[in-house]
Amino acid sequence: MKIYVPMDSAAKALGADEVAEAIAHEAVARGMDVEIIRNGSRGMIWLEPLVELDAGEGRIGFGPVSVEDVPALLDGTLESHGLVEEIPFFARQNRLTFARCGVIAPLDLDAYQAHGGLAGLRRAIGMSGSEIVDEVTESGLRGRGGAGFPTGIKWKTVMLAEASQKYIVCNADEGDSGTFADRMIMEGDPFTLIEGMAIAGLAVGATKGYVYMRSEYPDAIKVMNAAVDIARQQGMLGPRVLGSDRAFDMEIRVGAGAYVCGEETSLLNSLEGKRGVVRAKPPLPALEGFMGRPTVVNNVISLATVPVVLEKGAAHYADFGHNRSRGTVTLQIAGNVRRGGLFEAGFGMTLGEIVNDIAGGTASGRPVKAVQVGGPLGAYMPVGKFHTPMGYEEFDAEGGLIGHAGLVVFDDSADMLKMARFAMEFCAIESCGKCTPCRIGAVRGVETIDRIAAGDGAATELLTDLCDTMRDGSLCALGGFTPFPVMSALSNFPDDFACRKEAAE
Ligand code: NAI
Ligand code: SF4
Repeated sequence: MKIYVPMDSAAKALGADEVAEAIAHEAVARGMDVEIIRNGSRGMIWLEPLVELDAGEGRIGFGPVSVEDVPALLDGTLESHGLVEEIPFFARQNRLTFARCGVIAPLDLDAYQAHGGLAGLRRAIGMSGSEIVDEVTESGLRGRGGAGFPTGIKWKTVMLAEASQKYIVCNADEGDSGTFADRMIMEGDPFTLIEGMAIAGLAVGATKGYVYMRSEYPDAIKVMNAAVDIARQQGMLGPRVLGSDRAFDMEIRVGAGAYVCGEETSLLNSLEGKRGVVRAKPPLPALEGFMGRPTVVNNVISLATVPVVLEKGAAHYADFGHNRSRGTVTLQIAGNVRRGGLFEAGFGMTLGEIVNDIAGGTASGRPVKAVQVGGPLGAYMPVGKFHTPMGYEEFDAEGGLIGHAGLVVFDDSADMLKMARFAMEFCAIESCGKCTPCRIGAVRGVETIDRIAAGDGAATELLTDLCDTMRDGSLCALGGFTPFPVMSALSNFPDDFACRKEAAE
């Protein structure tokens, strides 16, 4: 009998290691023939540790499993959720990027190949750089880090740049609050990211790649390092990728922990050993990136999606989605919800469907007040905007952004003035200090919100003006996008700002 216990850090935080140990002890004590496989997470975090039992008829899920549940699990008396792939939250998904996550042991390259891994890279090896770039362009894949810039167009800029050395840099500095897709795939299916980076290298003519990871992800760092070693030993990386005459190798680099180092130019500075300060664009990293050379900087999910695009073809991928947002979106549902986790599906589902139906509403049972979509720089969407379909342009039209597709849900006890203050405070703390609207504006923003809280209604106009200045005058998204949460809180929840005034009066 095979028993799967996730080694994902969310599952571990909820006791997966202890459960795995208890299963091993109990099995030995009972003389049972049990093989424990440490898989990635299926993304149903409210069920973690989700233990799966495979006695030959599909994988049956149990969870959350505690150490005390282990005897009943092995007795066959523990209540199950049935087949894992039939659990409604899972069954409703279209898993393309996350197809193997939670299914295989993350560092088992044979299992990776048995589940479709390396098919994309093998196909790419037989293609020219421009054929690969065209395929990615036709798939409609856009930057999943947040900006949604077409991946194929970015790659084309790098491909066409003349240089003796080019680089692929993966942005794994997943700093947005409520996001965990990058971490989950790196811990659960690291070869997908490595394969995506190798394909990117073949496409643009880069022979070297770096993954820039945040230090707060120790498990992901360990798994990625081990995966790169295995990939090198097995010929997936190196001077002859999969026995071809194409070279690509890569390294893992760990940042010291600054939100702004997720901004691509700041990341490049940090990667070069310099202070993580934003560089002015142009020049674009695509032309003058790492060490001044043409560099593809892509988010983990963008790169980890490339293998399936090459394996199944651009049309297959593009077939999922909505309007100009093609393929799947890897939603990370968090905050005050009954069912939080990773949900991958074609773009186009409405925000209301996701929050009420998939996530099951709030865990507190109170009405939803707001959903912050797109991390700390994303807008607070009120229930009145729940009709908005998941799509880059659709969210933009409603004054929001998808960003890295993290959703944090708040119930009606949330105080939106405090949330707006938090956004300004966050910006003030994380600002790299290079430009005035952000460095000084964020500090003034906190003070202005405090004035509103103290009953100074006139300060609202000042806050609006300040947000306009930050949006239009900041050098990067940190200062430029902080107005999203602040202004969305102010415009969608005016009562939370007005009542302060009344109370003070
Ligand atoms: P951007 O719009 O300036 O650029 C997007 C990307 O396209 C960049 O990589 C840029 O270099 C590239 N690009 C633009 N024109 C190009 C061309 N002609 N050829 C080749 N490449 C080109 O956006 P930025 O500042 O890179 O990202 C902002 C986004 O980051 C925000 O939407 C925010 O949601 C997101 N974000 C994500 C975080 C996370 O944890 N994932 C954290 C903070 C922000
Ligand atoms: Fe630095 Fe803020 Fe300016 Fe970005 S907006 S360059 S983080 S000071």
